[in-house]
Amino acid sequence: MYERNVKWIEETVAQQNEWRCNTLNLIASENVMSIRARRVLGSDFAHRYAEGHPGERYYQGTDKIDEIESWVKQQLKTLFSCQHMEVRPISGTVANDAVFSRYIKPGDVVMVNSTAGGGHISHHKSGSVGKYTKNIVDFPLTPDGYHIDCEATYALVKKLHPKVLIFGKSLFLFPEPIKDLVKICNDNETTIIYDAAHVLGLIAGKQFQDPLGEGAAIVTASTHKTFFGSQRGIIMSNMDKKEWWKIDKGAFPGSSSNHHLDTLVSLAVTTCEIIAFAEEYSKQTISNAKTLGRSLSEFGFNVQAKEFDFTESHQVAVDVSELGGGNEVARILKENDIILNMNLLPFEPLERVTNPSGIRIGVQEMTRFGMKAEEMERIAELIKKCLKESCSVDNEVRELRKDFQKVHYSFDE
Ligand SMILES: Cc1ncc(COP(=O)(O)O)c(C=O)c1O
Repeated sequence: MYERNVKWIEETVAQQNEWRCNTLNLIASENVMSIRARRVLGSDFAHRYAEGHPGERYYQGTDKIDEIESWVKQQLKTLFSCQHMEVRPISGTVANDAVFSRYIKPGDVVMVNSTAGGGHISHHKSGSVGKYTKNIVDFPLTPDGYHIDCEATYALVKKLHPKVLIFGKSLFLFPEPIKDLVKICNDNETTIIYDAAHVLGLIAGKQFQDPLGEGAAIVTASTHKTFFGSQRGIIMSNMDKKEWWKIDKGAFPGSSSNHHLDTLVSLAVTTCEIIAFAEEYSKQTISNAKTLGRSLSEFGFNVQAKEFDFTESHQVAVDVSELGGGNEVARILKENDIILNMNLLPFEPLERVTNPSGIRIGVQEMTRFGMKAEEMERIAELIKKCLKESCSVDNEVRELRKDFQKVHYSFDE
């Protein structure tokens, strides 16, 4: 009986693999790993434990993972020009929690991007920050909704003396104003934390702001969005050693014990790919996002932040309220094998979260499959045919994907 179930599970995985190869995945928080990064998954390391640091483990038998963990840490320190690098969190949220648990105490004021302003759930009341304080204040935004209003934030920092500012978000089109706010934060002993989950690969490619260089004290991130690796998290900083010790303890034993060694090995492979290709990849990704934004706008879509050329990241946001709202539009596109997610847009009430006005589109995965401007224009055309002309485009999607199966920016043959 249960062997039949195993067969069903295997078949379901095969179906997923086959289906996904024929879709246009535009979910902004995902990416694909190279064959060589995937090939090292499921090794003996998948069965093993390695608590603590290389050379100081609580388990025997860790010599090989010690070598790889020490190596990847050093490579990432060099890549991001930082003194401290924590590679043990098993996701971006775990990385955030490791930091927030050490920096936020009951009653502290914390300033964040609101949900509608693009902020991530781990920054909010119902997520990680909410476990430590209820005094969460949203950054005021400029009227376009995609930038923090620096003057108003400056005044709030002076008035409220927040313990922490958390920059970075999930709907993330433009860099955050760290440079404009670092002085007032220093004057108020406010720590700047920057959540680079979405833009880590773009930072690695030097095509987005350098948060540590601009004055953030701590950067957290996921390693599987624009940084196209296995699903894990990292934390980095240039703070003094004693202060960093708090974060070290936050990562282990604070937020995890073992840290899923085979995905760390895979991340080491990805790190090689990022070092070799991130600059070229991020330039192409940002250029593709701008092309997609422009093309959709030319087809009459209400693409957000038009006055700022739509985006400086891998994402574009579109207000689709006149086409039935984000939920309906995402559903129709999925029926046509174009996969993306609905999204609240700035200033929308939280109650609209299940049918918001917007959709969020990310081009980082299709860029990794080698797509460029011409394909972005084609994707815009397919979205238009689907949403504005009620045509079925799944065959055209399949036809377009046919020639984009190989993972680029990698050492795959
Ligand atoms: C800004 C931001 N931070 C953190 C996370 C959480 O990352 P993970 O899914 O790796 O826990 C996300 C996820 O999309 C995110 O957008």
